[in-house]
Amino acid sequence: MSASPSPGAGPLPLGGDGYPAAGGVARRPAGQDESARASRRWWDAAAPAYLAEHGSDLGDVDFLWCPEGLREADARLLGDVRGRRVLEVGCGSAPCARWLARQGADVIATDISGGMLDRAAELNRTTGVAVPLLQADAGALPLADAGIDVVCSAFGGLPFVADAGAVLAEIARVLRPGGRFVASVNHPLRWVFPDSPDPDDLRVTSSYFDRRPYVETDGSGRTVYVEHHRTVGDWVRAVVGAGLVLEDLIEPEWTPGRTETWGQWSPERGALIPGTLVLVCRRP
Ligand SMILES: C[S@@+](CC[C@H](N)C(=O)[O-])C[C@H]1O[C@@H](n2cnc3c(N)ncnc32)[C@H](O)[C@@H]1O
Repeated sequence: MSASPSPGAGPLPLGGDGYPAAGGVARRPAGQDESARASRRWWDAAAPAYLAEHGSDLGDVDFLWCPEGLREADARLLGDVRGRRVLEVGCGSAPCARWLARQGADVIATDISGGMLDRAAELNRTTGVAVPLLQADAGALPLADAGIDVVCSAFGGLPFVADAGAVLAEIARVLRPGGRFVASVNHPLRWVFPDSPDPDDLRVTSSYFDRRPYVETDGSGRTVYVEHHRTVGDWVRAVVGAGLVLEDLIEPEWTPGRTETWGQWSPERGALIPGTLVLVCRRP
């Protein structure tokens, strides 16, 4: 692993909840470099708070696809990974990659954030399940063409990149013909509602067709966090445009009895509308 500090100014100032404090919020365009720079710095700063909040749900050696509670141990969306070369994109602290390694996969875990990869390295040591970690932007994978059997991503990278088509094309490039790609992303429907777990807030407050990303800025107006919105059709076009075949679009339902809340994902909302879209694809 090469987890170098993020370029630019020092660490982001944190709010009382331990996450980077947002100075301002806007819906406005944000390009690829701007988005990648912001993500890297934001996730570097947010890693301790994010893992303190969600680490026990994510597990150290476990594969959680989404806040609805779908786990790869039950879903088996990646098929039998034993002996397969598997790439995880946007691995965070890499619990999914460690779970895959325990299933017998030959895994590489990548993420743009050195802060997240530092936590991944720590968990590699404490769990005794050490997966190779690589610091890389999802849009520029330092891997050879057609050498990977399976690519997976659980909310890793894709919601944060400006050009999803370019990232999917990069994933298609490293996949061998016949290889599988599965990724979970925010369900596009979520964007029309306020970012709240409360079902009483299910009022449409923004257009489903408004593709302008959600941008947070610091006190001096610099971009510190970006999330990009795409419609369901945009995702399908991005997959097909990258030369992949879309085999399934899964909208996981809330796991009965599950009480965890992740931002706007709550059991109450989960009972009413989908929160996650899972793209199941194959390179022909
Ligand atoms: C919500 S976390 C998901 C990771 C993991 N599945 C988890 O739940 O902890 C999002 C991850 O995507 C990474 N990320 C954001 N933008 C990225 C990019 N352009 N390329 C690669 N990783 C990126 C972040 O650093 C972060 O670790």
